[in-house]
Amino acid sequence: MHSSTFPKPSWRFLQFLALTTTLLVATILLTWTYGAPTHIPLSIPLSIPGLTHGSYEHPVDELIAAAEADFKAVLAKEVKSLDAAAKAYRKRRGRHPPPGFAEWYNFTVEHGALVVEDFFDRIYDDLGPFWGIEPRKIRQQAHSFDFVISVRNGSTTQKSDHERAWMNLWHQLIGTIEKFLPDVDVPINTMDESRLLVPWEMINDYMNDARYTMPPASDAISEFSGLGDLDNSTYDWKWQGPHITWPDSEKGRRPYWSLVRAACAPDTPTRKTPVFEDIWSDHPRPEHAAALLLPTSFPPNTLRGYVQNWTQATDPCYHPHLQGLHGTFVEPLSLSTSEKLFPLFGGSKLPMNNEILLPAAMYWSDMELYSGGEESHGLPWPKKNNSLIWRGAATGGRNKKENWPRFQRHRFLSMVNGTQVSTAELPPGEVDPSIAGIGPGGNFRLPPGNPYGVSVVSERHLGDWIGSFSDAEFMDLVCFPNENAPTCSYTNEFYSVTEMMPMKEQYAYKYLPDIDGNSFSGRYRGFLRSTSLPIKATVYKEWHDSRLFPWVHFVPMDNTFIDFYGIMEYFIGSDPEPTPKKGHDEAARKIAEQGQKWAETVLRREDMQIYVYRLLLEYARVSDDRRERLGFVEDLKAA
Ligand SMILES: *[C@@H]1O[C@H](CO)[C@@H](O)[C@H](O)[C@H]1NC(C)=O
Ligand SMILES: *[C@@H]1O[C@H](CO)[C@@H](O)[C@H](O)[C@H]1NC(C)=O
Ligand SMILES: *[C@@H]1O[C@H](CO)[C@@H](O)[C@H](O)[C@H]1NC(C)=O
Ligand SMILES: *[C@@H]1O[C@H](CO)[C@@H](O)[C@H](O)[C@H]1NC(C)=O
Ligand SMILES: *[C@@H]1O[C@H](CO)[C@@H](O)[C@H](O)[C@H]1NC(C)=O
Ligand SMILES: *[C@@H]1O[C@H](CO)[C@@H](O)[C@H](O)[C@H]1NC(C)=O
Repeated sequence: MHSSTFPKPSWRFLQFLALTTTLLVATILLTWTYGAPTHIPLSIPLSIPGLTHGSYEHPVDELIAAAEADFKAVLAKEVKSLDAAAKAYRKRRGRHPPPGFAEWYNFTVEHGALVVEDFFDRIYDDLGPFWGIEPRKIRQQAHSFDFVISVRNGSTTQKSDHERAWMNLWHQLIGTIEKFLPDVDVPINTMDESRLLVPWEMINDYMNDARYTMPPASDAISEFSGLGDLDNSTYDWKWQGPHITWPDSEKGRRPYWSLVRAACAPDTPTRKTPVFEDIWSDHPRPEHAAALLLPTSFPPNTLRGYVQNWTQATDPCYHPHLQGLHGTFVEPLSLSTSEKLFPLFGGSKLPMNNEILLPAAMYWSDMELYSGGEESHGLPWPKKNNSLIWRGAATGGRNKKENWPRFQRHRFLSMVNGTQVSTAELPPGEVDPSIAGIGPGGNFRLPPGNPYGVSVVSERHLGDWIGSFSDAEFMDLVCFPNENAPTCSYTNEFYSVTEMMPMKEQYAYKYLPDIDGNSFSGRYRGFLRSTSLPIKATVYKEWHDSRLFPWVHFVPMDNTFIDFYGIMEYFIGSDPEPTPKKGHDEAARKIAEQGQKWAETVLRREDMQIYVYRLLLEYARVSDDRRERLGFVEDLKAA
């Protein structure tokens, strides 16, 4: 599923749709509108009843309370005037807002947006290194790329080889705001996989070279220079990525992870951990076997095992063992990467990738095929089935006989399969002690000693308990080499295959785990907009990251899923004698409903337009020879 062309309802296409796109993006009918900043858009009280200050029964109680406080603090930063917006901008970014800022601000007002400067952080992370590159080079590279959406004099065109789905959707999105935009060339990554992996040291040099100042208002200029110099440009720039083979003569047996690792900061755990060269062989060093790469106790920097820093939890630079536990790193579908920095826009990326993010094209689509055709958020919480549902394909990269136990979707489905978990629970007397606690497929291990204190674990009823509320099944085992889809000779033993279930039917269940596929999971926005509760693990970044709060709008999960049983016991409860655990259904409901309302406040199509509008003003500025003086200063002059 690289470059995607549509509409072409082949099997592959339908499979692809089912996988990543069952989204609800159609007309957004707000059930309520957002008012003044003091009207926090949550119908449910923010503090959890029954908690005495400072003492928490369960770490999740504490995480929820802390996250709600953080969220409130960010909401309090909402700006309600152009002056306040410009002030907040200068404070957070250390420079003047870009020219066009006043019109942009008016656009946000006209579209009823909630504006907090922090919500645009992604733009500044993505564009930061480009301030260390000569603007002329940025313009020329962007212009001569093979896939480009261009704005000239307020209208949009595209350059491509043929009709491409993502190109068309992004073209449409930019087209809706074209009359406001300066001239820009927006080079597009037409693959689903992210592509730029520039070594950390090189990015660090660009950041050190980056110069931006805040000139006095009298020195600032407000007219972009335009792209006229490109008309006669003979610059012909081509993709400069290495053509990696597998294994690679220069980069060894783990070419992709070697590039990922080099893009992490020198002091991160991943840079300090060697590449596991042997995970490809039939006999890896025992400690490199898939199940044994999983932690035996709490993942680093968690609150008694539960995610407390989502940025870190999703960053492979802090989790070196993900090199053998996530398909993206084990064997990605595409190896077309570049170690040189140039401007390239895309819909998602790893934290160490250097793409500039747009809202994923899928999120913009309102085609019936993508959206499910109608707005549906699911039944009210009390009417939902008190269990978890997951449907999808066994994607994540190219899974093969020798590597499938290292894939995240396979691992998750094994860990929620009651039969497999019961096998892993057999006491050492009944199985070879060397495989005690390990699932039958060798792809998960129950951490010894029950660090999460899950009651059913001590009673050896974990498998039964999981089986009682879990409904997770593949629709296609995506074998390689391709066998008779959807089954697969080497994984049939561990997974059954079922029909796809439309997303709106999934909303009849309370719990919606969301696990990465070949790249980010395109169903996430739909899940957030449902009244069910998304439980999210990912290594991917998206445009919306700084506007979504873990434990307030969704439940965060570690990429190893080691915390999953603890999370579910917290929400659903369990009743083994003598230590039954009460559930927290109200807490689950609250996060599900807050997430839905928030998604309808800050993840609307209008919010995507506002984000892209701001992004392209900044991009036009960083590509301009006079970028250091370009700025909006009208508010300062008036004062
Ligand atoms: C923004 O809107 C206000 C109120 O309608 C208007 O007075 C102002 O001229 C607009 N500013 C720009 C730059 O369009
Ligand atoms: C740009 O568009 C405006 C009006 O839309 C038109 O008057 C002007 O001639 C155009 N300029 C160029 C260079 O095409
Ligand atoms: C491009 O080249 C043409 C023909 O040589 C010339 O008339 C025009 O001024 C040039 N444009 C720019 C922006 O240099
Ligand atoms: C979360 O982790 C990141 C990466 O290590 C770090 O920069 C950040 O300060 C941490 N945030 C908090 C609130 O501790
Ligand atoms: C809830 O979902 C499970 C698993 O899909 C199913 O077996 C059960 O019948 C459902 N219960 C209700 C009340 O719908
Ligand atoms: C659960 O695991 C068992 C044993 O490995 C397998 O036969 C069964 O098909 C699995 N169930 C699902 C839903 O994949």
